[in-house]
Amino acid sequence: MRKLTNVLVTGGAGFIGCNFIRVLLKKTPGFTGRVINLDALTYAGNASSLADIDGEFGGKRYFFERADITDRERVRGIFQKYDIDTVIHFAAESHVDRSILGPEAFIRTNVMGTFTLLDAARDLWRGEGGSMREDVLFHHVSTDEVYGSLGETGYFTETTPYDPRSPYSASKASSDHLVFAYHHTYGLPVTLSNCSNNYGPYHFPEKLIPLMILNMLEGKPLPVYGDGKYVRDWLFVEDHNTAVWAIVNRGKSGEKYNIGGENEWENITLLRKLIGIVAEKAGLDAGKVAETITFVKDRPGHDRRYAIDCSKLKRELGWTQSVTFEEGLSLTVDWYLSNKAWVVNVKSGEYAHWVEKNYTAR
Ligand code: NAD
Ligand code: TYD
Repeated sequence: MRKLTNVLVTGGAGFIGCNFIRVLLKKTPGFTGRVINLDALTYAGNASSLADIDGEFGGKRYFFERADITDRERVRGIFQKYDIDTVIHFAAESHVDRSILGPEAFIRTNVMGTFTLLDAARDLWRGEGGSMREDVLFHHVSTDEVYGSLGETGYFTETTPYDPRSPYSASKASSDHLVFAYHHTYGLPVTLSNCSNNYGPYHFPEKLIPLMILNMLEGKPLPVYGDGKYVRDWLFVEDHNTAVWAIVNRGKSGEKYNIGGENEWENITLLRKLIGIVAEKAGLDAGKVAETITFVKDRPGHDRRYAIDCSKLKRELGWTQSVTFEEGLSLTVDWYLSNKAWVVNVKSGEYAHWVEKNYTAR
């Protein structure tokens, strides 16, 4: 039986991680354990996204440790300090465009950082007599981008060969291989998930959906790469997180699970849909907003289409999505409209100082 008592969430101050911690502590009655959020607070880490969680659970069931996953001593110290039995590894450099401009940070965090965590888990989860404990789990959160790019038809399954094409996806592919290497070589209990594009609250506004929402509200141009006919499969972030939790609870050790929204859209069609929603909610003229669509230079090596077959997850673990795309987009736009302080904090850079201003070491 998995223990799930002292859960180390890496990257918990990022987009998906902070939503995960909120769902786990506030909406998962079956979970009574502690969450330790290990995050280096890079530009993408925003501890203020968890201000409410820190207020309610801080020092009791929620603990924040500012640390870098490549820092071997800190990582091992945190494992020992909290007697970690479960790792849910979200921390990563996650933005493709940044990986094109500067791949090194991606190799450092995504490859070396994952290695450092795996190695700590391997050493510290050895039980009496040197055999691996069976009540522990290392869950690695990965992306569908490791599978490469699809043509007009077909889907990525769990057996699709890896074919990463950007420095981001190559670094994630590399970390996926390390996870299974630690399972096969050292017997580390692991599960792995490859998910499609997420959207929802607390998304850093460099990614397509939040960038477009905020640009619309500010009357800025809406930059569409290339011909805009690139296809992504979109999933509401809470539904990604319920899938991760299902895998952590009931997934088979040594297995990988694809997670997807079964919800493919060309970027330009998605953008037009989003314009309709934002314009209605914010009282803007949709036609005028659409005039700000600007086709810009394409991303180098831009993957044409991603599409996920997540039937294994649905069949074996009974996972289902909770919202339609229309509902998820509507919730997301509402969130950005009613959380202006978060947006201002992110845009001004003020969010980087939240921990030093608000966090009292416990
Ligand atoms: P994000 O960029 O919003 O957050 C990443 C978090 O990791 C930040 O809080 C950052 O401070 C932290 N971090 C980065 N480097 C670190 C380091 N060296 N040590 C400790 N912490 C560090 O990313 P996200 O969108 O929340 O993605 C989370 C995970 O999910 C990633 O592993 C990503 O590859 C994967 N994923 C994301 C998507 C998506 O659509 N966003 C889809 C599939 C999979
Ligand atoms: P993104 O949110 O960066 O996610 P990913 O590259 O990991 O799929 O981009 C989603 C899609 O939107 C992708 O095809 C690139 C495109 N895109 C634009 O057209 N304009 C933009 O300003 C951004 C950020 C992305």
